[in-house]
Amino acid sequence: MSEREHFGSRFAVIMAMAGSAVGLGNIWRFPYMVGEHGGAAFIILYMVASFVLVLPIFFAETIIGRRSRQGTFGAMEKLAPGTGWKWLGLLTVFAPIIILSYYSVVGGWSVEYLYKAVCLDFTNTPPERIQGFFGAFISSSGGPIAVHTIFMLLVAGIVLAGVKRGIERFTKVTMPVLFVLIVVIAIYSVTLPGAKEGVAYLVKPDFSKVDAHAVAAAMGQAFFSLSLGVGTILTYASYMRKDENIFLSGVGTAVSDLLFAILAGFAVMPAVFAAGIAPGAGPGLVFDTLPFIFNKMGAGAPWLSAAIAIVFFLTILVAALTSAISMMEVGVAYLTEEKGLKRATAVLAITAFAWTVGVLCSLSFGPLAEVKLLGNSIFDFLDKLCSDWLLPAGGLLFTLFVGWKMARPDVFDEFTNGGTLKGNVRLFNFVWFLLRYVAPVGIAVVFVTNLVL
Ligand code: PHE
Repeated sequence: MSEREHFGSRFAVIMAMAGSAVGLGNIWRFPYMVGEHGGAAFIILYMVASFVLVLPIFFAETIIGRRSRQGTFGAMEKLAPGTGWKWLGLLTVFAPIIILSYYSVVGGWSVEYLYKAVCLDFTNTPPERIQGFFGAFISSSGGPIAVHTIFMLLVAGIVLAGVKRGIERFTKVTMPVLFVLIVVIAIYSVTLPGAKEGVAYLVKPDFSKVDAHAVAAAMGQAFFSLSLGVGTILTYASYMRKDENIFLSGVGTAVSDLLFAILAGFAVMPAVFAAGIAPGAGPGLVFDTLPFIFNKMGAGAPWLSAAIAIVFFLTILVAALTSAISMMEVGVAYLTEEKGLKRATAVLAITAFAWTVGVLCSLSFGPLAEVKLLGNSIFDFLDKLCSDWLLPAGGLLFTLFVGWKMARPDVFDEFTNGGTLKGNVRLFNFVWFLLRYVAPVGIAVVFVTNLVL
């Protein structure tokens, strides 16, 4: 990563950023967060958080990354030489490695479900038994660790080979396919008998469920889903061409990410109600629900439903891979650029560390279920630690850096491409206000209330 390449086109930039953003956060995490925090009300909070608090962080990261053409640590050093900022930049290198560890466990589940789909397990098994699949699988030890290992090796292999060409071309094809599939499944899900309740759950807000934790969770979900606060977008932006439009890239990524999450909500929640599963069932929600849908579909056309199941889990896997790769890249960029490690050594070190932590996370659904950290399982603890604390903290740092450390004319220059983008020139005062006041104060307020409660 010491050579600075450029993404070829605006489409490539959006696809690379969307490839990082769209992942398990949308398909797996979003639906169960909605279920745990009261449905439609949570979705509204999430949208507000996405556009008011988190989109400004996207601008902050892209401004820092493109201006410095460096990874997090080097970027801070270049833009604020000799100050302590680079150490704060270093903090953001750890979060994505921790995320990678438990993300890989869930990525492993999608490997397992792909395998089950190929074996026609969802179409040939009675529905009662399908619902037992997930709980039985994750609470065992060997199987989940084996698929976690497979997923981690895939990530390591791709990062080692270089992400650019292959993965970029791959996502350009698979993302639209995933999009079409999620629409098809959402339509099917909404028309299942008993689905009405699920639809109502998604569109009728019940604000009585909204507390400080829900607000913090909505903000955390927005950070997680947009891959912000950890230097991922910053690193990608360092490959952006100078004539790209930062505003449009941000809005394009945020809108596609949001749309994807909402569609996943409509694919999953009605089926949750139709299948009689509790919406607050936690991390297994998607894996419990989708096989149920595939099974129902199979009653009419087994081959079609089996094919959809296979393509669906394959694409979830790819979406997870394109995100996981971007997490590993942040650490690899740091170790190769700043520490002079060979790419292979850097990949090996990060893989070994993240794999080991991932094993603990995986076991926390079974043999280590009794181990609690502040009342949470190891898996939940790390997930909450990252999305509710580390990511927003990283985001806060980036927005403070751009709003208060960088000179306003430099920020203006970067955001408007030297004043040539007239639309961005007009928007600048507003964006500057968001960056300097709204985002930092908003994030800090959510932090403090979450801490006090
Ligand atoms: N945004 C990714 C997803 O939604 C997860 C992610 C978080 C990726 C942080 C990179 C950095 O699945």
